[in-house]
Amino acid sequence: MAEMGTSTLWTPDSWRSFEGRQMPVYTDAGALASVETELQSYPPLVFAGEARRLKDELGEVASGRAFLLQGGDCAESFAEFHPNNIRDTFRVLLQMAVVLTFAGRMPVVKVGRMAGQFAKPRSEPNETIGGVSLPSYRGDIVNDINFNPESREPDPKRMLRAYMQAAATLNLLRAFAQGGYANLHQVHKWTLDFVGSSAVTRRYRELADRIGEALSFMEACGINPETAPQLRGTEFYTSHEALLLGYEQAMTRQDSLTGQWYDTSAHMLWIGDRTRFPGSAHVEFLRGIGNPIGMKVGPSLDADTLLRLLDTLNPNNEPGRLTLIARYGAEKIEAHLPQLVRAVKKEGRSVVWSCDPMHGNTIKTGTGYKTRPFDRIMTEVRSFFAIHRAEGTHAGGIHAEMTGQNVTECTGGAVAITDETLADRYHTHCDPRLNAAQALELAFLIAEGLQQELASREAA
Ligand code: PEP
Ligand code: CO
Repeated sequence: MAEMGTSTLWTPDSWRSFEGRQMPVYTDAGALASVETELQSYPPLVFAGEARRLKDELGEVASGRAFLLQGGDCAESFAEFHPNNIRDTFRVLLQMAVVLTFAGRMPVVKVGRMAGQFAKPRSEPNETIGGVSLPSYRGDIVNDINFNPESREPDPKRMLRAYMQAAATLNLLRAFAQGGYANLHQVHKWTLDFVGSSAVTRRYRELADRIGEALSFMEACGINPETAPQLRGTEFYTSHEALLLGYEQAMTRQDSLTGQWYDTSAHMLWIGDRTRFPGSAHVEFLRGIGNPIGMKVGPSLDADTLLRLLDTLNPNNEPGRLTLIARYGAEKIEAHLPQLVRAVKKEGRSVVWSCDPMHGNTIKTGTGYKTRPFDRIMTEVRSFFAIHRAEGTHAGGIHAEMTGQNVTECTGGAVAITDETLADRYHTHCDPRLNAAQALELAFLIAEGLQQELASREAA
């Protein structure tokens, strides 16, 4: 097995001689090869220039001048593919961005876990129900969630369907972002009906009123959506975990302008917590693409290994190239994150520090549901901000599993969901997501964190 390093030549398929974890074994190698060949002939989903622009914007985040908002489904699915789902998730992200920009006083870089977030790592290779053991569900791009042998057999053709769904989703997102839906003058209309009278909706409406006043003032000064395109639309980017490397390789193309390789399946790709070890095929693949990339960091990662991974993934220390997504859990973050933040700072490495308060806070209820208590999510975010304030570094981003649908998957929140009501609308194909009201509440907490950070910067 090959060793990690930057000295060896990178090619789009060099990952194949490294250790690849969490990828399915396809029984029909011929069928797999023909799907990969077909994918290679499909149009790229994003253009390299867009990925470069995102990298520049993330460079602003790394320098403490902007904030990264990344969110969406844990796993997109073929069954939940619907324009309303796409619109509702996009709308909550817009609402969160408005809260962060206005209350947190920072430009917000918006990145969806959307239009390609299909492949899932699993803690067990097999799932056993009633004495029957079958391969685990690995996301709709790999196999089907139904528990029978045919469904769980990895089918390469699913990659083609995932590509088509990603293309259609991205098309709608582009239309929403630039076609008028995201016009800042719509800020009131984004309020979702079902959270009608809750405290968080009231808070959002108040903020929207103040934005409305500011916009009227600006309009009187001659600044309106016609004269200022920033008010008319927004930049919106896509991302997913680059887990299924055969698919990612097939989507990787050489940019005609720079000669650099880009994975054109999304603007930003990240490496999961289970696949970011030295010597990993996933690390090898991602080191060679020009896109901005993310890496999850969890309790098993020590500072020395992190620095080695930074050498591999960002050898030229480019701001915006690498986002570290901390996912510890409310109880563990204090014991682990500060030493990594210190080591990165001491070595002068430029990274975006982002907080994933979801994956370390998953529990199973007595009734068998996987859930995440909202107060633990909020506690981890508070600790994340406190740690960065103490270290004098920028709490640069949030990474959340969320949906615009009124689901009941995480317990707690302003419209309290209990263990008993989880069953009402538990729709996720993988991990429990924040619903729209919980996501908005989280945005207000982050805005407070950003205000505190700015205040302590001014005091310093
Ligand atoms: C995820 O983001 O859905 C995920 C699996 O996260 P992690 O790799 O951090 O466990
Ligand atoms: Co998840």
